Amino acid sequence: MYLLAIESSCDETAAAVCADGKILSNFIATQKVHEMYGGVVPELASRAHMQHIVPVVHQALEKAGCTPTQLDAVAFTQAPGLIGSLLVGAQFAKSLALSLNIPLIPVHHMQAHVLANLIPEERPSFPFLCLTVSGGHTQIVRCNSPLDMQVIGETIDDAAGEAFDKSAKLLGLPYPGGPLVDKYAREGNPERFSFPEPRIPGLNFSFSGLKTSILYFLRNAGTSLLYKEEFKATDEERTAFIQNNLADLCASIQHRIISILLNKMKKAVEETGIREVCIAGGVSANSGLRQALKETGDKLGWKTYIPPFEYCTDNAAMIAITGYYKYQAGQFADLSVAASARAEWE
Ligand code: KG4
Ligand code: ZN
Repeated sequence: MYLLAIESSCDETAAAVCADGKILSNFIATQKVHEMYGGVVPELASRAHMQHIVPVVHQALEKAGCTPTQLDAVAFTQAPGLIGSLLVGAQFAKSLALSLNIPLIPVHHMQAHVLANLIPEERPSFPFLCLTVSGGHTQIVRCNSPLDMQVIGETIDDAAGEAFDKSAKLLGLPYPGGPLVDKYAREGNPERFSFPEPRIPGLNFSFSGLKTSILYFLRNAGTSLLYKEEFKATDEERTAFIQNNLADLCASIQHRIISILLNKMKKAVEETGIREVCIAGGVSANSGLRQALKETGDKLGWKTYIPPFEYCTDNAAMIAITGYYKYQAGQFADLSVAASARAEWE
């Protein structure tokens, strides 16, 4: 069974082909056009998807050694994401399904991030818990079977990826700052600066307080976590403080984000009794988080699973594996299906 999958929810145009659930190809065209704006510009993202989608699909089919007429189904990211971006992938998939007369499979982007854990040979057994951490979401998901998932905790404000990116911006680093914080943190002391951990009940997260405390701390050039007008440093003092302490700042910020995430995962394991634990989403590419999850798991007797880097950030292989399970369950859509910027879990 050959399936083509398309992902276009944000700023990556991606296509993948799988045969009977095995990934044969996985291509991504990253949009460089946003770098100079310090964030993704929706209008530019849609235009770039229009330019990239045909070449990316061609590459994916060619690498898989598959022609369009051999395809048995086409899957695409239906939601959530930037609506203009989603529409390009959805419209392409619908046209292909119509012209080839094959089933069309809509996929929820966040469910696909979780199921990226089922791509490698070594995969979690059900039920498992997944910490899904991306630029737009931070969730703890209980996964009972491939298509039966439940969000049991989530952020009440910023996502973990936003916490990385916004902190990086305060440090003067370009967008997206997450990978750069990761890079500088490797050389730094994570205990040098202590940023507060929020007290949020249950399994929910909050990251907005961390961002505010970093803002005040930098405003005061490292003299205080509290906002005090009289301590406000000059721009020169602040820039010098950041330059002289960049690695320690990155390591300390990353350390706090990771401790917020893992403390909630410990709570989730205690409450559910489930010890199969994985991570997913762009932030799961973070080297500190990957190492900390493994160490915590080894210490507490969890079995931990971490997808290869290429399946962590946005990609079409995760849409393909989800499409494969939906194909087996006969979960198809008709050609009236629409993309949606927001989406509840099914
Ligand atoms: O899943 P993803 O590729 O796109 C969304 O669906 O949001 O996640 C993107 C997020 C960005 O916030 C980016 O800064 C973050 O993942 N990210 C990282 C790393 N690589 C990507 N954050 C920290 N460390 C990394 N190595
Ligand atoms: Zn994503």
